[in-house]
Amino acid sequence: MCGIVGYIGKRNSQEILLEGLKKLEYRGYDSAGVAVFTADGLQIKKAKGRIANLESKLEETPLQGSVGIGHTRWATHGKPSDVNSHPHTDNSLKFSVVHNGIIENYITLKEELTAKGHNFVSETDTEVISHLIADLYEGDILKAVQKAVTHMTGAFALGVLTEYEPDRLVAVRQASPLIIGIGEGENFIGSDIPAILEYTRNVFILNDGEMALLTRDGVELMTLEGNFISREMFHVDWDIITAEKAGYDHFMLKEIYDQPKAYRDTMGSRISTDGSAVTLNELVLSAEAIRNISRIHIVACGTAYHAGMVGKYVIEKLARIPVETDVASEYRYRSPIITKDTLVIVVSQSGETADTLAALREAKHQGAHVLAITNVVGSSVAREADDVITTWAGLEIAVASTKGYTSQLIAFYLLGLHLAQTLGTQSAVEIKEAITALRELPAQVEEILGQAEAIKVVAEEMAKHDNLFFIGRGLDYAVALEGSLKLKEISYIHSEAYPAGELKHGTLALIEDDIPVIALATQHELQEKTVSNIKEVKARGANVLGIAVEGERELQKSVDSTFLIPKTLDVLSPALAVIPLQLLSYYASLARGNDVDKPRNLAKSVTVE
Ligand code: F6R
Repeated sequence: MCGIVGYIGKRNSQEILLEGLKKLEYRGYDSAGVAVFTADGLQIKKAKGRIANLESKLEETPLQGSVGIGHTRWATHGKPSDVNSHPHTDNSLKFSVVHNGIIENYITLKEELTAKGHNFVSETDTEVISHLIADLYEGDILKAVQKAVTHMTGAFALGVLTEYEPDRLVAVRQASPLIIGIGEGENFIGSDIPAILEYTRNVFILNDGEMALLTRDGVELMTLEGNFISREMFHVDWDIITAEKAGYDHFMLKEIYDQPKAYRDTMGSRISTDGSAVTLNELVLSAEAIRNISRIHIVACGTAYHAGMVGKYVIEKLARIPVETDVASEYRYRSPIITKDTLVIVVSQSGETADTLAALREAKHQGAHVLAITNVVGSSVAREADDVITTWAGLEIAVASTKGYTSQLIAFYLLGLHLAQTLGTQSAVEIKEAITALRELPAQVEEILGQAEAIKVVAEEMAKHDNLFFIGRGLDYAVALEGSLKLKEISYIHSEAYPAGELKHGTLALIEDDIPVIALATQHELQEKTVSNIKEVKARGANVLGIAVEGERELQKSVDSTFLIPKTLDVLSPALAVIPLQLLSYYASLARGNDVDKPRNLAKSVTVE
């Protein structure tokens, strides 16, 4: 949610800022802007819309200078426009600020500053920060920022410059992510590692309540109160290629094709060589603690929440522990019953989702053991949880999550088996059978990907419709929800996912001639019931695409077309059934001429509540 980048060094900063912003565009793309120290002082250029618009402006009138900050915006306060774009400044135009987060008390601050004679030009909360810093400035930008933050409440990652001190860049982190990149004679700030990866692999990850003073020759880390801190440098070992499209037309397509590797890497060394046991050695959670778990809460947002729904089925089936799932933005407000025997599992690809992080903190505050499933090592969620299962999906850039989701499923399978082994709820034979099937998944995903052309044909037909339904029972319902979300977010086709048996309690009224219905029927025990529900929609004119398992005959007679996934255990089928749905959304989005990787109104990392 908004991307920040900053540079102080000897090179021309414009290029570095623009390249960094392009890497962060997944965090928001309503507008972009940069501020650079030039021979004529602090110069700002902003443009509504994609970074390409800013780039065109900068091509016409480049900004020459070796210190600058940049921002790509996901609008919260104030509509996308040039004037609401960052960097923001004060009336003297001597101070410049980029901000990710929300200043909750900005109205009060704005009133106070207005009373003192400050004039505001934008509708944003951020503009108060530049005015506040200008108001408090007494010759030292570091001190002015330190004073300013004591007046601000909410979430803020900041990059701050002042024309009075052109050799200093101040960075702040409070409840919004920020990293510092360390170079030779140059230093960087960024909301995320890809922004600076082209220039350095050495980073400091700031914690909440910390700030940094960057000069060309060094970086000082300190608390917001000014107490110096030392921090181990984090060496990024993933490749820049991971942050590129690697020949694919879109990041989403690349990430769909990355999935076999993501499955293998997430399983990695977590399965014993003879395939008889799962070894989650990284867990602090002891066998005794596992035996004491009385309930599990799984908390997440969006796609990660859908992975959590699969996780609930998996854990309840394999380990027989009662599991509740909660959308993170609701969790804290429903007074959940959390005891010290509650295991709270938070799921977050980015590890920075504000609601998930808030739920994690609430659960910890109430004494629960918190286990995070996340894809980003060093993320806030990873650092604050008691236990972490890292999903090794690699960097996910497309706004629509694909490999992030499926690697979360793999993490849940591993966890479910780990709990079952410890509790003895599955026999050794059953565990080995599940592990064998788990290991077959990557090759089976490759098989499905080999049929992408067939899915493309179906998707192009579906793209002509404005409404669509997904139905399924049990685990198929959880996958239906994910398929529906994926389709909505990138194709803008209105779709709804329903438990197949629930449709006739109202929603069946919406089924009319030729409406596409995608029926998931991979669960053998529920097959007959799902077929009955398929007949109900067919009788009302629906055109049904069935997603079933190879060898299935009955279902094929009841639907208009079928896509078959390879045979696996019922409990593992979500990891296969979702692949055709991802491809379907991708090709439907393409057919509608949408920007697949950057769907309207959305951003990748949702760091505001
Ligand atoms: C949809 C999607 C979102 C995220 C959600 C949580 O494709 O990506 O629904 O799943 O915003 O994000 P993380 O997993 O980063 O917490």
